[in-house]
Amino acid sequence: MHKGLAIYPGSFDPPTNGHLDLIERGAKIFEELVVAILRNSEKSPMFTVSERREMLQQLTAHLKNVSIDTFDGLMVEYAKSRDATCILRGIRAISDYEYELQMALMNRKLEPTLETVFMMPADKYSYVSSRLVREVAQAGGPVKGLVPEIVEQKLRDKLALGKQRETRAIEILDRIDLGGKELNPKVAKRKKKA
Ligand code: PNS
Repeated sequence: MHKGLAIYPGSFDPPTNGHLDLIERGAKIFEELVVAILRNSEKSPMFTVSERREMLQQLTAHLKNVSIDTFDGLMVEYAKSRDATCILRGIRAISDYEYELQMALMNRKLEPTLETVFMMPADKYSYVSSRLVREVAQAGGPVKGLVPEIVEQKLRDKLALGKQRETRAIEILDRIDLGGKELNPKVAKRKKKA
């Protein structure tokens, strides 16, 4: 076991079985592992940082040397503030390598004492990414086996809430009449059909 603390940074939007697999592997080789969620991502996330934090906390509750945190700004600065000695990142396929190498070398330039360690998740997760999970779930496809069950449920809740909001918005727009001009094309279409 490697003495000291390692950081596993990422977006985790949402956490997948691949992430969990890597966390479990990391927990075996590092004395302490901190899963760190990036807060200031430019992407518009599906899950809030606190939702992601909560999911990761539940998913790693059985791993006593794993904790969940969030960070802003430069990852190496956060790692230094935690006295970390290693950064853990996963490489699924050769396509990940270029980006990961670039990031590891940039991080090394910024902080030469921090070492990036790459691990491979189980090959059955080699095609699983948060982006594809979101895409499949949003299109109504099954994500069973790709994400833990609690994440699957959260995805269902989130998408049902989205649908509810869309229906409510349509109903509100339905009531708005701008001098006979319909605001919402869906409503206009419905009225035309009626
Ligand atoms: O899960 P992701 O989206 O692949 O994680 C990327 C992450 C969060 C590790 C990376 O974007 C990051 O570390 N961002 C923080 C800002 C930073 O330090 N940028 C320089 C990296 S070379």
